[in-house]
Parts: sequence; structure tokens; C-alpha cells
Amino acid sequence: MTGGAGFLGSHVVDALLARGDEVVVVDDLSTGNRANLDPRATLCIADVGESAALERALAGQRIDGVVHCAAKTKVVESMEKEDLYERVIVEGTYNVLEMARQLHVSIFVNISTGGAIYGETPVCASEGVPIDPRSNYGRFKAKAEKLVESAGLRSVTLRLANIYGPRQRTDLEGGVIAIFVGCWKRREPITLFGDGRYERDYVYVADVVESILAALAGKHTGVYNIGTGIATSVNALVSALTSVLGPPPGIRRAPARPAEVLRGCVDPTKAAREGLWRPMTALAEGLRLTAAAEGALLP
Ligand SMILES: NC(=O)c1ccc[n+]([C@@H]2O[C@H](COP(=O)([O-])OP(=O)(O)OC[C@H]3O[C@@H](n4cnc5c(N)ncnc54)[C@H](O)[C@@H]3O)[C@@H](O)[C@H]2O)c1
Repeated sequence: MTGGAGFLGSHVVDALLARGDEVVVVDDLSTGNRANLDPRATLCIADVGESAALERALAGQRIDGVVHCAAKTKVVESMEKEDLYERVIVEGTYNVLEMARQLHVSIFVNISTGGAIYGETPVCASEGVPIDPRSNYGRFKAKAEKLVESAGLRSVTLRLANIYGPRQRTDLEGGVIAIFVGCWKRREPITLFGDGRYERDYVYVADVVESILAALAGKHTGVYNIGTGIATSVNALVSALTSVLGPPPGIRRAPARPAEVLRGCVDPTKAAREGLWRPMTALAEGLRLTAAAEGALLP
């Protein structure tokens, strides 16, 4: 498991440990946090962009399956730090694939992004539509997908929609639900960019974890979207949060952010049709679970 000390990765580690697996995590703790990680997992602190460090960390391990989560994930930062993003996402994926080959793993699950790969999606994107990454982050994730596809390993690439849930950091881009829940909890005003009509596909982290466990079973290969197929505007999100937490403590307006797509949504039909996965948690329920876990629900 790479990136296992991060938001998504740590939830995957919990689920693997809960079903009795042994888990080895490779993480450089650059955005992840050791506190996220169950101490029963073995943590190797290493940068996936450095093949020698990766080899040292994993030499002699017996690994059945790999979940490759480690990445730099900020769209805006990726435009300023192109080299860093290329090194971690493209070279990092190459190195992890090489390691997986050496260790004869039976399944490689590559964590990719729907939100940053498809571009503008007036209709929720299915896996076959031409991709249109607008950022270095999306472009390098697309390159990483190609590396995985041509690696000669049994593999699944999951293109995830916008994930939300407990433990999501509020300083990373994309975590609008984590940011809003934090504001409600601290009784601070929320900030709405533009007219609040931007739409995104929000998928609950526990559902994403289920998709990764299903992919690890090794019965499927190829690319699958993991999302709800429902585009929710920021305004609708505020209404849904209001139903859970009461009215927001205040609303600040700010100019629209450049280079944002208006509507980002993935179509998860293929995963359901082929028996891999389907979304289970409705937004209202996921928001309630997130708010409860973050201590934002009123007593
Ligand atoms: N959060 C989302 O909405 C979302 C949506 C689509 C795809 N994804 C993908 O899911 C994965 C996990 O994202 P997340 O939201 O949990 O972010 P995160 O930042 O919490 O997790 C990333 C983890 O990777 C580690 N990492 C970063 N660079 C590394 C390196 N060079 N070597 C080793 N470890 C490194 C970090 O320390 C962190 O623990 C990423 O691949 C991301 O692209 C996330």
C-alpha cells in the first residue's frame, strides 16, 4: 500500500487490517500523518520517486497485492511545481510498478482521478470518452494510468470522483466538505467562490474503500469510474449540510477561481454492470457520518 498514511489510504489500511490482512505501507509522510495509521500496519518511510529507497524499504517483503495511492494531489500546486508532480506521480508510479513486478504481486490497484482527467463533463463521463486533463496533476495521472496499463501486470485503475469523509485534511484542495464541516464546527463563516453553481460528484470514503477491496480481489482488470453519477452544486451542498448541522454560521463570497471546471461528474455504470462496485452511501447520510466523526454535530 503506498500513501497509506493519507486520507484515503488510511481508511483502506483500516479495512484491510479489519479483514485480517497484513499491511505494509510506503509513505513519505509529506501530506500523510502517522497518527492516521493503525500501528498494526508496518510503515516504511520512503519516497516512491526514489527507486533505491523503495527497494530498500520493500526488500524481502512478501506482497500479494498493491494499492497505489501515493501522489501529490493539489491541482493549483501542480501548475507551480510541475517537476515535483511529474517525479512523484509518473516516476513514482513507474518505480512502484517495477517493485510490484520484482515481488510478483498478483494484482495492482492504481488510484487515479476522474475529477482531474475528464475535464468539463456536461454529461457524467463514462470511461470511454476522450480525456481532457486541464492541469499537470491530471496530465501526470493520465500518464501514470498508461504506465499501469502497459506494465504487463494484472491491474485495475480506479478513476475516483471527489472523495469526502472523516480525516480529510482541510488545507488540501478539493476537500470542500471537510472545509465546510470544519467551519460549521468552529462557528466560522464558509466561503463560496463564484456563484456556487460549480457541480462535483461527491463519493463517500467508505464506499471508495469498498471499490478498492473489490478491485484487490483480482477478478476485474481495466479502468473503472468510482463515483455516484450525481453532480451536486456547492449551493446544494450547503443546503444538504444545513439539513444536518443547521444554517451555516455565515457566508462569505469570493470571486470564482480560475481554471475550475463547471461540472465534474463520473458515470459509475460500468463498475455496477460488471459486478465490481456500486455506490451505497447517499450524500445526506455521508455528510451526517462525516460531521459526527469530526465532532461537528450539535449534541
Ligand atoms: N481526495 C480526493 O478527492 C481524490 C479524488 C480522486 C483521486 N484521489 C487520489 O487518491 C489518492 C489519495 O489521495 P488523498 O486525498 O488521500 O491525499 P493524501 O495527500 O491524504 O494522501 C496521499 C498520501 O501519499 C503520500 N505521499 C505523497 N507523496 C509521496 C511520495 N513521493 N512518496 C511516498 N508517499 C507519498 C502522502 O504523505 C499521503 O500520505 C491520490 O492518488 C489521489 O490522486 C483523491
